[in-house]
Amino acid sequence: MGKMVLLTGGAGYIGSHTCLELLNAGFDVVVADNYSNSSPEALRRVRALTCRNFPVYEIDVSCRAALEEIFKKHEIGAVIHFAGLKAVGESMEKPLAYYRNNLDSTLSLLECMKAQGVNKLVFSSSATVYADSEVEKKTEDLPTGCINPYGWTKYMIEQILRDVAAVEPDWSVALLRYFNPVGAHESGCIGEDPSGIPNNLMPRVLQNARGLLPVLGVFGDDYPTHDGTCVRDYIHVVDLAKGHVAALEYLKKHRGCEAINLGTGVGYSVLDILNSFERANGVSLNYEIQGRRPGDAAACYADPGKAAALLGWKAEKSLDDMCRDAWRWQCYNPEGYASGIEAWYKAQDTESEEKDLEEK
Ligand code: UD1
Repeated sequence: MGKMVLLTGGAGYIGSHTCLELLNAGFDVVVADNYSNSSPEALRRVRALTCRNFPVYEIDVSCRAALEEIFKKHEIGAVIHFAGLKAVGESMEKPLAYYRNNLDSTLSLLECMKAQGVNKLVFSSSATVYADSEVEKKTEDLPTGCINPYGWTKYMIEQILRDVAAVEPDWSVALLRYFNPVGAHESGCIGEDPSGIPNNLMPRVLQNARGLLPVLGVFGDDYPTHDGTCVRDYIHVVDLAKGHVAALEYLKKHRGCEAINLGTGVGYSVLDILNSFERANGVSLNYEIQGRRPGDAAACYADPGKAAALLGWKAEKSLDDMCRDAWRWQCYNPEGYASGIEAWYKAQDTESEEKDLEEK
């Protein structure tokens, strides 16, 4: 593109992994993040891993003036919009905060892009936009509809983007519907660092493996699935990140607005995840079957055909890779980014010393 790619929320879990893959693919990036649920340390580590520097702005994307400064300072060719609040439970307690934050930031970003003549956008959407239905394998044309404010913000932003693309014939927009991102970069240097008590399955598995969560609840074993526990499409975050690189390449040549699933196409149950985690890492988990969690669908996985056809992309990493890489990140950084990079170097040293001893 020659121009830079602006990543809003580029310090977050998916943003930081995408930042790394973009740099590795030769793109120039600029990051805007307010660190509301992320750490500048993630970006320092991306710099260390790629040996490349890039500008970072600590701003709130809903602040149009701050955003405009970035567009004036750098020649932006495309935007990937990751920034947003994303905790389902919290969104039900604070719906206004979710609508205000997620919609405001998107509107100011779009106004800014329009004013500056930037017309390529990748949006972080979610499989949560699919309406609950009997159809487990999700194709992009299935009906949409949500059950919590977080999901509705994704749904509404998709609609806003479709409306904009309909009247702006030069715009190219990809609505990437993520399934369940897990894992970490294989270096163990960047990964997911949830603030507060995690709600999603993999961060809770990690806490349980470390003894911080004494009992991991499996939410329901009476679903109509192969072992009675819920089935989801878990996707390695590095595969997901590469999907964004492929989407940017696609937007260079195509106009209009497309919703595209990013998933593996394979569903695994909660028990499949726990078994794979134990086997791949040689650790044991302490879990028990509990009641169903309200709002959970029995099974949901992607039809990844459209991503393959349009983007030439498909997920490559296995469930064992996801489990191993998540655990490595956790072991190297027991307190997440707060551990500091020294913890990571130390873990690397210990591992290579152990390997040396084994070889002797
Ligand atoms: C959740 C959100 C979804 C969001 C996605 C990514 C809900 C209802 N959905 O998806 O909107 O886009 O995260 O952040 O919250 N489970 C357990 N024990 C646990 C935690 C989870 O058994 O301690 C089970 C759940 O019942 C579910 C599966 O693990 O069947 C995955 O759960 P989770 O990681 O929260 O993802 P989703 O619910 O699929």
